[in-house]
Amino acid sequence: MFGRDTMLLVAEPSLGQDEKTALADVIDSGWVTMGTRVQAFEQAFAAMHEVADAVAVSSCTGGLHLVMQALGIGPGDEVLVPALTFVATSNSVLYAGATPVFVDIESLDVPIMSCADAAAKCTPNTKAVIVVHYAGYLADRDAWRDFADQRGLLLIEDSAHAVGADRTSIFGDAAIFSFFGNKNMTTAEGGMVVALDPGVLDRVRQARGHGMTSNTMQRLNGRMITYDVTMLGYNYRMDELRAAIGLTQLKKLGGWNDKRRVLTKTYRALLGKYCPDLSVPFSRPRPSAHHIMPVVLPQDVDRQVVVDRLRDDGIQTTNHYPPIHWFSLYRDKYPAVHLPRTEDFALRELTLPLHPKLETGHVEYIARTLAKALTQ
Ligand SMILES: Cc1ncc(COP(=O)(O)O)c(C=O)c1O
Repeated sequence: MFGRDTMLLVAEPSLGQDEKTALADVIDSGWVTMGTRVQAFEQAFAAMHEVADAVAVSSCTGGLHLVMQALGIGPGDEVLVPALTFVATSNSVLYAGATPVFVDIESLDVPIMSCADAAAKCTPNTKAVIVVHYAGYLADRDAWRDFADQRGLLLIEDSAHAVGADRTSIFGDAAIFSFFGNKNMTTAEGGMVVALDPGVLDRVRQARGHGMTSNTMQRLNGRMITYDVTMLGYNYRMDELRAAIGLTQLKKLGGWNDKRRVLTKTYRALLGKYCPDLSVPFSRPRPSAHHIMPVVLPQDVDRQVVVDRLRDDGIQTTNHYPPIHWFSLYRDKYPAVHLPRTEDFALRELTLPLHPKLETGHVEYIARTLAKALTQ
């Protein structure tokens, strides 16, 4: 049915005529960056996530960096982070001149940062904690809010995987979302920052445009031809083309996330039937955007053999994630880090295809092929 030429991909963006039309409209308008579409995208995203405001940025990574600065995190501060995440999470801590402190996951079933290990790693220098909603499954709102409040820490949500998750508002001081091409909705590259304190969001908004006190459109619409620079800023702006795609994608996100939920449920049922030795994380229901489909292989299985067999049968798989403390850059800086549960999970985890273009038949094929690959 499938093969090397027709791979079932781990992630695939859904882009079509609506996005082409939206792009053409921007080109015809003659205004290509930081205009009304960026504002409309921010407002629509904020409304969907039940917050007052949001700031669109050029990537989630840029957004994380801006949040670090806006919250006043800097040299001498320690920031608790999981190692089971994309490297951007901890890189943002390094950008700020602060120190990432790596925390283990809860368990193989709940591969989200452990509150207990985070508590054990707090020092007088701990200033903030970044929770990651791994695979789109939300970290425990009450547990993390209590954790941060009891210790007077800033709480940041790396919500790259959790765009459009079914929830009310955010629970961190700030949350940052990704619209990279493999995410639940895409603008090719792009991100969004949400914060509870409007002052934080103001600083993020100003710093995304070089720290300038006005942008080009504001100067066009006003009488001032000059501006001031009152803080160190960057160019982390979003452009009108991306915002136009984002507005279009946002309208479809709810339907896509519903499809992801149904496909995940189907996976769970079929993997339970065909691959009983496999474990599927998050066995107990929790709110999720169902971003990816991670499974944990039995301990004695050679993962590379499984990857190769699936690939020969037209199924792409990936790994989320190689732990950050194993990367050369980080190993050289922090050689003593050892996180047993994260390491066990990372060595056995395999990510199966999950995106709204898949159908139940594909999931059946993937589950059966995986069962064959595991028994051969
Ligand atoms: C958990 C996590 N954080 C941050 C990022 C960075 O997102 P972006 O590519 O939009 O900078 C990603 C992207 O894959 C991610 O998965």
